[in-house]
Amino acid sequence: MKLSVFSGKPYDKKYFDAANATRPASEIHIVYHDFSLSEDTVFLAKGSDAVCVFVNDSLGSAVVEALAREGVQAILLRCAGFNNVDLDAAEKHGLLVANVPSYSPEAVAEFAVALIQTLNRNTHRAYNRVREGNFALDGLLGRTLHGKTVGIIGTGKIGVATARIMKGFGCRVIAYDPFPSPAFKELGDYKSLEELLPESDIVSLHCPLMDSTRHIINEQTIAKMKPGVMLINTSRGGLLDTTAVIHALKSKHIGGLALDVYEGESSLFYDDHSGEIIQDDILMRLTTFHNALVCGHQAFFTEEALKEIADCTLRNIEEYVTSGVCKNSLTKDPKIRRRDSLPVRNV
Ligand code: NAI
Repeated sequence: MKLSVFSGKPYDKKYFDAANATRPASEIHIVYHDFSLSEDTVFLAKGSDAVCVFVNDSLGSAVVEALAREGVQAILLRCAGFNNVDLDAAEKHGLLVANVPSYSPEAVAEFAVALIQTLNRNTHRAYNRVREGNFALDGLLGRTLHGKTVGIIGTGKIGVATARIMKGFGCRVIAYDPFPSPAFKELGDYKSLEELLPESDIVSLHCPLMDSTRHIINEQTIAKMKPGVMLINTSRGGLLDTTAVIHALKSKHIGGLALDVYEGESSLFYDDHSGEIIQDDILMRLTTFHNALVCGHQAFFTEEALKEIADCTLRNIEEYVTSGVCKNSLTKDPKIRRRDSLPVRNV
């Protein structure tokens, strides 16, 4: 079986090759492309049984249709989020779409907490100051987290892991999620979004990007937040109306912002643009605030997570090939879960 990996970085190759090598009778031939999958590059999937993609590959209906035309039968996401794939088009063309739903929720939660800690105690500024021989404390004043209220939007695996850590800090945790979970109920109380926003000293986003959550943080919802609120987004950039967030940073209604994701990230993130003039004025404005941290979508990036991502992605395709079903399938129509033409091997 031929698997074409798009947006493949050296670290992807390292972990996928290692995962493939542990499969004794492996028949998966992996081809790595360091560029993303798009309408311009989809022709390179020709002859592949499956493609493996990441968060910034764009699989709209035209790309999905082209994949089907090239004979590809499965789209393997090596991430949890799937907002970049047109699932309806995949179902229409009979392609399996599978993701890695839970490779390390703690990795992302720990990163969200690292952002909270950095922003709150200004360690990003202290690091630079001390290197310049400046040991003054003015401007580094933080707030004790113990006793503060953390509002979690989305209490799935990552939201609950974040809530658990913040509870350990002595914070009060509250949450909004249209589908409440028993795991969160052990940590704190559910609220409506309208109740959560004015009560929270820190708001951390952990819901997926969907039509219903796009720009869930906007001018109106920001106005309901506590003045000086700290806003953390490790989920997807499209959850924020970034222009509204910039206005709120300028007016000081938002007192601190940490982003691991950005709405326009696909043309920049995961590559070195340090020798270029970056044209995205919104992103560049964000980087000028001393109380805004922007990272390049790295919350997932731990050794343990990369290992599990590679293992689970290969397990997904093996399971589908051998049994005709895949428990991590995101496509609804059961008839597409059996593709007799896909090469079947004994494992
Ligand atoms: P999950 O599927 O376990 O949980 C998502 C939760 O959001 C569910 O409980 C769901 O009910 C809730 N939800 C749905 N609609 C909502 C709404 N309108 N308002 C509030 N909550 C809503 O997902 P998981 O694993 O916790 O991941 C969350 C998100 O984190 C992913 O969708 C992905 O976008 C992002 N992510 C970011 C990574 C990074 O490296 N920065 C890595 C992995 C995931």
